[in-house]
Amino acid sequence: MKVLFCGDIVGRSGRESVTRNIPRLRQELGLDFVVVNGENAAAGFGITAKICAELHGAGVDCITTGNHVWDQRDIIPYIAQDKRLLRPINFPPGTPGWGASQYETARGQKVVVVNVMCRLFMDPLDDPFRTVDAEIAKYTLGRSAHFILIDVHGEATSEKQSMGHHLDGRVSAVLGTHSHIPTADSWVLPGGTAYQTDVGMCGDYDSVIGMKKEGAVLRFIKKVPGDRLAPAEGEGTMCAALVETDDKSGLAKAVRPIRIGGRLPPAG
Ligand code: FE2
Repeated sequence: MKVLFCGDIVGRSGRESVTRNIPRLRQELGLDFVVVNGENAAAGFGITAKICAELHGAGVDCITTGNHVWDQRDIIPYIAQDKRLLRPINFPPGTPGWGASQYETARGQKVVVVNVMCRLFMDPLDDPFRTVDAEIAKYTLGRSAHFILIDVHGEATSEKQSMGHHLDGRVSAVLGTHSHIPTADSWVLPGGTAYQTDVGMCGDYDSVIGMKKEGAVLRFIKKVPGDRLAPAEGEGTMCAALVETDDKSGLAKAVRPIRIGGRLPPAG
């Protein structure tokens, strides 16, 4: 199977980089399933039902999120009725929406996506390791699930790398989000799980993690708060990881970074 996972979409630049490229890539690469992290898609803060529809219309099958999931309050009633939009699975019991779900591709393959959030330098949540263990125990890779993708949304590289090793051989891919900067460590771990600490954002890189650089830099230099941060509006780079798995085992044969458009050098 071929699955594409795009990192955090930031604002209009990020949305356009995804909606422009996904329809073409679905054809050219023969993608079976496309997942994006959309938690910064609405002007850098949260996501709306309209943006979900726009992304689905472009060929996105599942949207993951993270700590910014509730920034647009209207998404709270929406998420409870759309399993294609996930929030972190280790939010408290009773939180609206789902942290994981199973989907079926056009070819009938079963894909499980789990959205989990780390704890180092982030909100104190339920143990991400134990929560993911409990979720993936419901499936047998290569049988009841042909592809299991974990979006590990976290700040600390150490925690995300630990999640990769912890799940190695039990899921198809562990791919990181949240830092908005792509890391150069996309590889297949010894047990057969595709891994990248952070796939990077989809957005304008002439910025500070997707937001206009002038105000963002000033925040570090002056103690007085400036204007509310707003997304940078230059051409976005679509940053993603392309994972190819063995249909029988569900384990990864290859993973490679994809970077298209905008300021970063192209890859893939
Ligand atoms: Fe985040």
